[in-house]
Amino acid sequence: MTYLTCTSSILLVLAVVGAAGGAADKPNSGITRKGFGKMAEGRTIELYTLTNSQGMRVAITNYGGIVVSILVPDRNGKPGDVVLGFDNLEGYLAKEPYFGALIGRYGNRIGNASFKLDGIEYKLPANDGPNSLHGGLRGFDKRVWTAREIQGEHPALELTYLGKDGEEGYPGNLSAKVVYSLTEDNALRIDYTATTDKDTVLNLTNHSYFNLAGEGNGDILKHEIMINADRFTPIDSTLIPTGELRKVENTPFDFRKPALIGTRIDADDEQIKFGKGYDHNFVLNRSGAGLSLAARVTDSESGRVLEVLTTQPGLQFYTGNFLDGSIRGKGAKTYGCRSAFCLETQHFPDSPNKPSFPSTVLKPGETYRESTVFRFSASK
Ligand code: BGC
Repeated sequence: MTYLTCTSSILLVLAVVGAAGGAADKPNSGITRKGFGKMAEGRTIELYTLTNSQGMRVAITNYGGIVVSILVPDRNGKPGDVVLGFDNLEGYLAKEPYFGALIGRYGNRIGNASFKLDGIEYKLPANDGPNSLHGGLRGFDKRVWTAREIQGEHPALELTYLGKDGEEGYPGNLSAKVVYSLTEDNALRIDYTATTDKDTVLNLTNHSYFNLAGEGNGDILKHEIMINADRFTPIDSTLIPTGELRKVENTPFDFRKPALIGTRIDADDEQIKFGKGYDHNFVLNRSGAGLSLAARVTDSESGRVLEVLTTQPGLQFYTGNFLDGSIRGKGAKTYGCRSAFCLETQHFPDSPNKPSFPSTVLKPGETYRESTVFRFSASK
């Protein structure tokens, strides 16, 4: 027969009370699922919430692999949602500018909506003037992904999608897998892999719109940004890179030392005018393969800091210049011009037509692998 001594039962009671007390202070890390809405044809779409024990929470839907919300504490420990978006699926089904979405098959623009690969010309839908933007009329952001919850060391969500041969004009069946994981250092990590059965091009990214003061809380002009890039890719009037890699030195694009986003955003500069602000790809300074720091953004009011690390060669810095207050987002808030910034880690826009840029070609037998980390903290 087993029995507890008085001392050991007291210790046991204390241990149980201690554990319960700890659980009340610290949320359990894990993943939960609930309904998010229905597609027109009746299919149910889910919302998955990843939680860590530091009070960070990230909600992701399998429609478009969209990051719906990211709750992170400010310097006083008060959580705030730092990404623009909608409260339910309906908002994302209407016309909206890719809030939080997974972008594919090709992130950003392909000039004249066409490219040549192995001597064959591929025609894509032109959905941005003469160019093709973010994978065409119905890119990966408007597809239903297959989700699998992973309860491992960190809560994670695996999303898979098969882009069919010829879909939106691209060659090859592309099997894409994206794993979102939330780590204990308040980082949302995104691991992308893909394989194909025919030569193709691809450029996968995530299109979150960040506002470190909290979504719907005004503009981001007073956020301070550092971008680890000596060069950027200047664009023409349709936002297609000219092919030049231009030094940022003595231009409004020099963010090697932290500067407020708003200081030079309306500078008398042709590049700024083409983008109506910042909407440019930066050539990241990298030291070898692996994750390296691409950018750091600080909001001095809330104290929130976002660091972006990536394996990718480029970063699209977009300051929400085309937001115009016409969209009603979460809690019916309106999102005005420059009320968010995007840091889209990527290969350079129009690479399929620019042989001098790092290649975006994927061949059968190869595996595409890229990773990006959005890490949050708070400064005192
Ligand atoms: C593009 C912008 C575009 C935005 C939303 C960004 O990646 O560079 O020009 O307006 O996405 O589509």
